[in-house]
Amino acid sequence: MKKHLVAPSVLAADFTRLADEFDMVNQSQADWFHLDVMDGRFVPNITFGMFVIEAMHQMAEKPLDVHLMIVEPEKYIEEFRKAGAHVITVHYEVCPHLHRTIQQIRECGALAGVALNPHTPVEVLEDIIEDIDLVCLMSVNPGFGGQKFIYQTIPRIRKLRNLIDTANAQTLIEIDGGVGLQNAETILQAGADVLVAGSSVFKAPDPRATIAALKAFKAVVEI
Ligand code: DX5
Ligand code: ZN
Repeated sequence: MKKHLVAPSVLAADFTRLADEFDMVNQSQADWFHLDVMDGRFVPNITFGMFVIEAMHQMAEKPLDVHLMIVEPEKYIEEFRKAGAHVITVHYEVCPHLHRTIQQIRECGALAGVALNPHTPVEVLEDIIEDIDLVCLMSVNPGFGGQKFIYQTIPRIRKLRNLIDTANAQTLIEIDGGVGLQNAETILQAGADVLVAGSSVFKAPDPRATIAALKAFKAVVEI
């Protein structure tokens, strides 16, 4: 059984001391940095773009997992790749030519991720699941950190796990929003591979220990 990954979401970091926050993650057991790009159009919030990600790339000693919450993401994929993205995730809801966009991401050398809003059925990815490296299931409505985990995500993870296993695909399941020590085990047992955690890590009294604790959960109960 492969170990799950933990990706702290930088959105919840203290931006007045970003270099220290990056150092903390570099020295922790975290696997990736999760970076949320928001455009004020797809979601009602604006964060940062490729220019800032390029600077973050210089501070990061771990791969960058870039979550694009923007309309027309296909216009900027190469630029995000050049800025240092390892995974590029686009939203299903804004990609009329999703398969083409996935190919575009893979062609520039990144892993291709597709994010689904809480209301989007996981079955919409059934026919192209083998071409997707990661599915990001939103467990909150995208746009803000610190929101409450939507509990219906748990059966959605099981459904997606089943869909991936049936297709014999290697696609990773990432859960994003409201993830913390209180629900990580349930999420992993439902079949998730990557835990994104923003507030629960950066607002914790000991962020590094929280990352270690998130890493320590068992994915499956041994039989
Ligand atoms: C929400 C973002 C998340 C967010 C998670 O739109 O995609 O990555 O940073 O933050 P928490 O863990 O605080 O819910
Ligand atoms: Zn995110």
